[in-house]
Order: sequence, then structure tokens, then C-alpha cells
Amino acid sequence: MEFISRAIITVLLVAAWIVTISISGAQSALKPPVWPSSFSVRFHEKDFSIFHKPVSTENDGAWYYDYSIPAARHDHLQGQNNSFCQGRGLNLTDPHADCSLLYVDNRDMFVHYPGERQCCRACGPAEGCTMMSQTNLAQATNEANDTVNGTACIGWFIPPEKYPVDHWYMTESGVPCSWQTIPIVHPIIVSIHSLTFNQHSYHVGPIPRGLLKVPSYCLNICPHPYVPPY
Ligand SMILES: *[C@@H]1O[C@H](CO)[C@@H](O)[C@H](O)[C@H]1NC(C)=O
Ligand SMILES: *[C@@H]1O[C@H](CO)[C@@H](O)[C@H](O)[C@H]1NC(C)=O
Ligand SMILES: *[C@@H]1O[C@H](CO)[C@@H](O)[C@H](O)[C@H]1NC(C)=O
Ligand SMILES: *[C@@H]1O[C@H](CO)[C@@H](O)[C@H](O)[C@H]1NC(C)=O
Repeated sequence: MEFISRAIITVLLVAAWIVTISISGAQSALKPPVWPSSFSVRFHEKDFSIFHKPVSTENDGAWYYDYSIPAARHDHLQGQNNSFCQGRGLNLTDPHADCSLLYVDNRDMFVHYPGERQCCRACGPAEGCTMMSQTNLAQATNEANDTVNGTACIGWFIPPEKYPVDHWYMTESGVPCSWQTIPIVHPIIVSIHSLTFNQHSYHVGPIPRGLLKVPSYCLNICPHPYVPPY
């Protein structure tokens, strides 16, 4: 039963994707943007059901990215239900409190609750826990455009691979507008995960080292390390 539902939904999503592509016709000659080696940006994050749209989680967050180190920090702030942060077995009073994912040397990803001074290694490359590549849009094609918060944004659709649906919207000059994915974690409750970037907060340039520092108490492997859902 589980398998069949999952298969049906995958087929529907792929069908929708093919229809989208055939409607939009010839691919444009636009080239997908490459991320700068270092940048930071703030965002608003939401999860909602694909069918009846109630928002289940909503929180603010930020990315600090520096591929020259390489290191990155993804903040999912109060209210978050981030699947890396949740369920790691840390001793927390509020599992939905501010949580940072710290990526170090493309080797370790730590889950850090700064307010509770709790931290552990959740996963690494073997589980797909690596920094986003600067060229993650290389295979993406421009299938649609949209206006996000009054700005014209170009849509880049990544072929189904990690996520069945993986859509990025960026301005023509490469400022991130939004990112929408449909991760199939549960075969029936298909939810859309979206980040809406604060375009004014986008900053290209080195990240102050203090922001990427791993606290000294990030010593141990999590009691329940992250296991990818599929
Ligand atoms: C948090 O995520 C879990 C696992 O995906 C889900 O079961 C739960 O309903 C979510 N909670 C909220 C408040 O969205
Ligand atoms: C969990 O944290 C609470 C308070 O922060 C503390 O009293 C308790 O001993 C901790 N439990 C473990 C197993 O570390
Ligand atoms: C999106 O906008 C760009 C820039 O204006 C344009 O070149 C491209 O053809 C548009 N793509 C679609 C699918 O409309
Ligand atoms: C949307 O645009 C307004 C006006 O430019 C700006 O004040 C606000 O911060 C923007 N919001 C986001 C999420 O970018």
C-alpha cells in the first residue's frame, strides 16, 4: 500500500513535470547562474500541504556560505521543524528553538542549538550532508518566470533527482528570490517546502569567521544521527 501510493505520486509528479516542460516549449538560451564562492542571505521558510495548503511550519532563517573554506551555516530559527534539527536525541527544552546546521570541510554536518548550548555531528557526505555546490543550477532549465515580492525573477527547474520538484527563482543578476521543493518524505502527505529570500539581505563577500565557528562543545556524534528518508 505504502509503496503503491508512493509510486502513484511519483508518476503524477513526473507527469506534471513533463506537461510543464512541453507547455513551455523551446528552452531559452539563458544560462543558469553560478553561486559566488561566498555570500549570505536571510529568508522566510514555510511548509505547506500540496493539496489543501495549510501552513504547518513557518520560521525565519539565514544562510552563510563560504566555499573557499569550505564552510556554511544554515540557521533555522524559532518555530523550525527542520528534519536535520529534529530527532537527533539532544537534550533540549524546545526542539523547535533556533537551530543552526554547521557544514565543515564537506566532511561533517553539526546540528547546533545555540540557545541551549547543545550540539552534535548529525551526518556527512555519506548521507548527502554537504554544502550546496556553487554549480547546483548547472543542469537547470528556465521553464517559467515569476514575480517575487515585486521583483521579476527567472525560474530554474532542476531535473528530478534529489527532489521530484526543485525550483529556484533568481533575479537576472543572480539574487535569490525563492526556492521551492517537494521532498517526498511521506507518500501521502506531500508538502511543499519553500524559502522566500529577503533580496535586500543578499550579500556577496567573505563571511566573518566568527559566524562559521564550530563551538567547542560540538564533540560527539548525535545519539540519533541523521538518516536520509529515501
Ligand atoms: C514536523 O515534522 C514532522 C516530520 O516530518 C511531522 O510529522 C510533524 O507534523 C511536523 N510538525 C509540524 C508542527 O509541522
Ligand atoms: C537535560 O537537561 C536538563 C536541564 O537542561 C538537565 O537537568 C538534565 O540532567 C539533562 N539530562 C541529560 C540526560 O543530560
Ligand atoms: C524569463 O525571463 C527572461 C528574462 O526576461 C527571458 O529571457 C526568458 O525567456 C523568460 N522565460 C520564460 C519561460 O518566460
Ligand atoms: C519586499 O519588498 C519590500 C519593499 O522593497 C521590502 O521592504 C521587504 O523587506 C521585502 N521582503 C522580502 C522578504 O524580501
